[in-house]
Amino acid sequence: MAFPAHPDCHSIRIDGVVVHGDKRGRVLGFPTANLAVDAVSAPLPADGVYCCQVDLGDSAGPHGATCSIGLNPTFGDVTSTRVEVFIHDFEGDLYGQRLTLRVLTCLREMRRFESVAALISQTEADVRRSRALLERVWR
Ligand SMILES: Cc1cc2nc3c(=O)[nH]c(=O)nc-3n(C[C@H](O)[C@H](O)[C@H](O)COP(=O)(O)O)c2cc1C
Repeated sequence: MAFPAHPDCHSIRIDGVVVHGDKRGRVLGFPTANLAVDAVSAPLPADGVYCCQVDLGDSAGPHGATCSIGLNPTFGDVTSTRVEVFIHDFEGDLYGQRLTLRVLTCLREMRRFESVAALISQTEADVRRSRALLERVWR
């Protein structure tokens, strides 16, 4: 079922510096950049999964990305809201770097999965959908 785009998560800008997360992302197959969000970026969109573009401050222009905002409830041990960005077709070390995220649209709510395998297959579907939406973004 398609989750309706929430009017509050259209073209929201989030700025922050990349910090160390729990290092689970690489094991899951989706390494994410965890953002320590600047105070000026508050309020954040509601917890959920979003289609985004990210500016890495390089000459390449905006990169497509899928981001997750929330407490990663599948794991049950995260106590502060995480903003995690999976940057499509990107490999590299971004720790300490400042990123600007443009949240384009909401894909779904954050959920607790019964297994890590179920989280991985939903994440794969999220990224596929995000890529398809980004193909249609007016540049
Ligand atoms: C596209 C995407 C969707 C996600 N959706 C969920 C979710 O619904 N539930 C959840 O518990 N975690 C979700 N996550 C967060 C993962 O649990 C998290 O990225 C992973 O635990 C790695 O965290 P780490 O970078 O702190 O190690 C999602 C992550 C991504 C990239």
